[in-house]
Amino acid sequence: MTNMQLWLRLPLVKAEFTENEPADASNDCLSGILNDSWETWNSFRLLCEHHVQLCVALDIQSSLPSINSLLRWFGEPVRAAIVHTDAFLTNARGYPCLSKRHQKLITAFFDLGFQIVISGSLVHNIPQERVDVVPANDNDGPNEGAPVRHELKPYLEYVAYLYQRMDPLSEQERFELNYRDFLQAPLQPLMDNLEAQTYETFEKDTVKYSQYQRAICEALLDRVSDEQTSSSNTVLMVVGAGRGPLVRASLQAAKEVDRKIKVYAVEKNPNAVVTLHSLIKLEGWESLVTVISCDMRFWDAPEKADILVSELLGSFGDNELSPECLDGAQRFLKPDGISIPSAYTSYLQPITATKLYNDVKSNKDLAHMETPYVVKLHKVARLALAQPVFTFLHPEFSRKRNNQRYAKLRFEIPPDTGSTLVHGFAGYFDAVLYGDIHLSIEPSKPTPAMFSW
Ligand SMILES: C[S@@+](CC[C@H](N)C(=O)[O-])C[C@H]1O[C@@H](n2cnc3c(N)ncnc32)[C@H](O)[C@@H]1O
Repeated sequence: MTNMQLWLRLPLVKAEFTENEPADASNDCLSGILNDSWETWNSFRLLCEHHVQLCVALDIQSSLPSINSLLRWFGEPVRAAIVHTDAFLTNARGYPCLSKRHQKLITAFFDLGFQIVISGSLVHNIPQERVDVVPANDNDGPNEGAPVRHELKPYLEYVAYLYQRMDPLSEQERFELNYRDFLQAPLQPLMDNLEAQTYETFEKDTVKYSQYQRAICEALLDRVSDEQTSSSNTVLMVVGAGRGPLVRASLQAAKEVDRKIKVYAVEKNPNAVVTLHSLIKLEGWESLVTVISCDMRFWDAPEKADILVSELLGSFGDNELSPECLDGAQRFLKPDGISIPSAYTSYLQPITATKLYNDVKSNKDLAHMETPYVVKLHKVARLALAQPVFTFLHPEFSRKRNNQRYAKLRFEIPPDTGSTLVHGFAGYFDAVLYGDIHLSIEPSKPTPAMFSW
């Protein structure tokens, strides 16, 4: 039946073995489950060819396996975590509570949207004044009709308390909710002309522009000393200016550090150019900014730039053709000129991501399996640290410069993880705007509160 789901119920266990005491190699199903229930789940779902209606319910017991082995389940279609009453400890007042590790796990499960089910019999000696209950599964006792309190209510109340204690979602997280684990086709801003709506979304990311502003401030200070302030006019070119947020950041930076600048705003999207012209008129920047409606690779600039500012980065760094566009634009950068960004590096990380895998697979062709997507990753297990892949530096005046890259990476999965399934690779980037000012979505050093990419 298409609207039915089958939940495979498994204990959340993984035995830890030393080298001298290898895992039980027998095929016995129970020992398989007791050794590592993830392996049982994996065998079963492979036999079912990753069927989308096959999900998991996990039994949570009093002892938990290692954190790395637990993390594997974050990328699996877990629908429920069944917490047994005997997994609860007793607090000083005699009420049920959970160990710190269990608390963290349940909180993570809430974040991933897993249902929590409480199961078992009353094992706590709840203080007398609170026991006004009928036993579980017995609503027909002598007090029939009287208000009843389920005997497991104290356990439920404790779990509800863990839920209420969680930090509320930030404005950014609420904004991103609908994008979680949703496949989006990457933008192709060189081939396509972006829509007004897309620019509007970019422009909401104030953190991105304030990082650019900081970088431009630093570059202007390095370029023009305090003594030269009145005599020097720095030529700054924003290439791929869109509707003008980097032009604004440049003018604000110049004002902040008290340096004179002359700005060229180069943009090849004729629709964005119309908005850019209106912005300049509205702000009264006509004497400061010249708009050039042209592809940067073919523009014949009337003078050379001191600073070239661009934001042509994709989620994997170079995948929106920033290197190719900037190769063209650096023709009009002075030999000692500055490019912001000055470098960017892509990163890769193996992940388990059942939902994404099934979404891609539903297209039933190889082309979709070999397509990179933009995704706000949420229900995924990140199996190893991300590693750098390709780096591009700007400007790059060497005659031997070449945008072809090849990399071979070896990922080490932490040994206490157990077996894992790699559905694909998550890609990220880290960009050096100028000096030590970065834009990054790499998980170990993300730019705080930045939501682009
Ligand atoms: C990612 S958007 C950034 C827009 C804007 N700077 C911002 O931060 O909101 C990249 C912009 O570069 C423009 N672009 C891409 N390739 C270009 C090229 N070769 N010449 C001129 N503009 C280009 C696109 O049309 C788009 O407006």
